Amino acid sequence: MLVPRHVAIIMDGNGRWAHERALPRAAGHRAGIKPVRLCVEECSRRGVEVLTLFAFSSENWQRPPQEVGVLMQLFLEALDREVEELSSKGVALSFIGDRTALAPELKARMAGVEARTGGNRGLKLVVAIGYGGRWDIVEAARRLARACQAGELDPAAIDEERFARELALGELPDPDLFIRTGGDQRISNFLLWNLAYAEFWFTETFWPAFGSDEIGQAFAAFATRERRFGKTAAQLKADAC
Ligand code: FPP
Repeated sequence: MLVPRHVAIIMDGNGRWAHERALPRAAGHRAGIKPVRLCVEECSRRGVEVLTLFAFSSENWQRPPQEVGVLMQLFLEALDREVEELSSKGVALSFIGDRTALAPELKARMAGVEARTGGNRGLKLVVAIGYGGRWDIVEAARRLARACQAGELDPAAIDEERFARELALGELPDPDLFIRTGGDQRISNFLLWNLAYAEFWFTETFWPAFGSDEIGQAFAAFATRERRFGKTAAQLKADAC
């Protein structure tokens, strides 16, 4: 079965999962840790190279301060609790997003985890915190503009490949499979550039209830997709010969 090199997930529906059970939203976020573990295990087992999870968007800063506080605390606790286990499985953990507004304690922990697991050879787990696709593109453009201004880069040398290297995912391959739980069918400012040719798979299931059977369904659906990248089906056939 054809396996995606890179899977990107919008983990949506924590609040509604909690609401259905008359629980506070925080309980939904806490329950969202289990499917994160599951996805890491399934992706590692299936030979996926990169798993990118959208944990907190640039826009999520607008949520009530209490909920933002809960999420930040959850990230901190999850890092402390899970890093040993992840590292023992060979997972290399890194983060993308604007870190400026994050608490110094969390920033320090993130940098520590990146340094500690960066050399691991297994699944690359990328967690997007404070991330926005438009922010990412603007940052890349600004860095390239500065390099041009400093005379280090010729604007004529900026092509798609050079631009992409400047984005948060850098040298990592583009996502092949994009999954969103929670019933909405949109990108919500996630990896705008990198999702250009991803295959999309949506489910109504709320993130805390997302299980290995559904991960299996998403992978099975991916394996049936014909990815033409703008070419015709006949050209693809000829390329394969
Ligand atoms: C979206 O659900 C989910 C989030 C904003 C937070 C995602 C965080 C986790 C799953 C916690 C664990 C993650 C890591 C990587 C440690 P929502 O609150 O928008 O749900 P709703 O649409 O039902 O309100």
